[in-house]
Amino acid sequence: MRDSLEELAIFGGVPAYGQMLHVGHPNIGNHERLLERINHLLERGWLTNGGPYVQELELRIADLLGVKHCIAMCNGTVALEIAIRAAGLSGEVILPSMTFIATAHALQWQGITPVFCDCDPGSHNIDPRRAEEMITPRTSGIIGVHVWGRPCDVEALAEIARRRHLKLLYDAAHAFGCSHKGRMIGNFGDAEVFSFHATKFFNTFEGGAVVTNDDEMAAKMRLMKNFGFAGFDNVVYIGTNGKMSEVSAAMGLTGLESLGEFIEANYRNYRQYKRELADVPGVRMITFDETEKSNYQYIVLEVDETVTKISRDQLVEILHAENVLARRYFYPGCHQMEPYRSYFPHAGLLLPETERLVQRVLSLPTGTAIGPNEITGICHIIRMVVSHGDETQARLLARAAR
Ligand SMILES: Cc1ncc(COP(=O)(O)O)c(C=O)c1O
Repeated sequence: MRDSLEELAIFGGVPAYGQMLHVGHPNIGNHERLLERINHLLERGWLTNGGPYVQELELRIADLLGVKHCIAMCNGTVALEIAIRAAGLSGEVILPSMTFIATAHALQWQGITPVFCDCDPGSHNIDPRRAEEMITPRTSGIIGVHVWGRPCDVEALAEIARRRHLKLLYDAAHAFGCSHKGRMIGNFGDAEVFSFHATKFFNTFEGGAVVTNDDEMAAKMRLMKNFGFAGFDNVVYIGTNGKMSEVSAAMGLTGLESLGEFIEANYRNYRQYKRELADVPGVRMITFDETEKSNYQYIVLEVDETVTKISRDQLVEILHAENVLARRYFYPGCHQMEPYRSYFPHAGLLLPETERLVQRVLSLPTGTAIGPNEITGICHIIRMVVSHGDETQARLLARAAR
């Protein structure tokens, strides 16, 4: 444990951790069960194309979420692209800029214009009132993103979509296993899309799924993810290759068996971070509604530089030197990334809350790979540098001038 600023790695001390502590270190369930499944699939010789593991995974996920259809896919981005096409989106689609770039790219890739909407500073999710203001005659839909797994204002968005005759999709990449008013995420809008990327709380190495209660949309997406094949030699639709492989589904089935453990570890970490950072001035941790189901996968801090005297970026630099790979999700905001930055150079004028938030937010390591001692160490470093904010700032400036 560091006792003084000089001991920090950024000022020449030894890094607190010998190994990198990552945000989103993969959660892996029981290794034996996974290897057993992989052995079976190798013996079976059915590696992809809707094999038994994919079929079982789809049923289990649909059952877990209480949703009619789950269509497993090769990743969350392709799942988004397919959901967007199946929903018939075109022209302009409103989405938050406070999201991972894939939400915007999935639209632009298909010649649809992403229209970036500001977020609510409290929830970090798309602000429905601002979303409605951005509707034009070319708008065909809205994509909400349940950022950090905290549900969007689904009631307000549904009301706007209904009244303005728009399709409503959700990028639920962060929200697998979360609920809103007791109903699992997956049941809102026309369809919801999950990512099962290795860094997600539940993973299939690479993978994703679209879930929906709409029979027609589900049937379309099943065709679309398999080149539009409706049977041997019979292509009835434009499609792509969005299929999940059997080895990914084997990982998914194994992960599902440990979902409770993953949540328990995340929840334990969340409670500890919350307790140990509670009294650090200028650092606010985002919280989850504990009466709902949450996966607690994201430990997110908002840093108020006017109080801490050091910026979020400086705090990230200090943590990185200690081998704590804190991340600045979703810096600098989709609207500041190409090609959107060139297409809409003044978009930021309509996104004041997003612009403010992307300068303040940082995400800390959690998951099954991190324990209480590491969390105590991380919180101690944050508390120490913030409680000596002016001195830390002076030392950082002196170091930069050297
Ligand atoms: C909000 C969001 N949307 C979409 C994606 C894309 O998912 P994938 O990496 O599975 O393609 C991710 C994460 O990777 C994400 O965080």
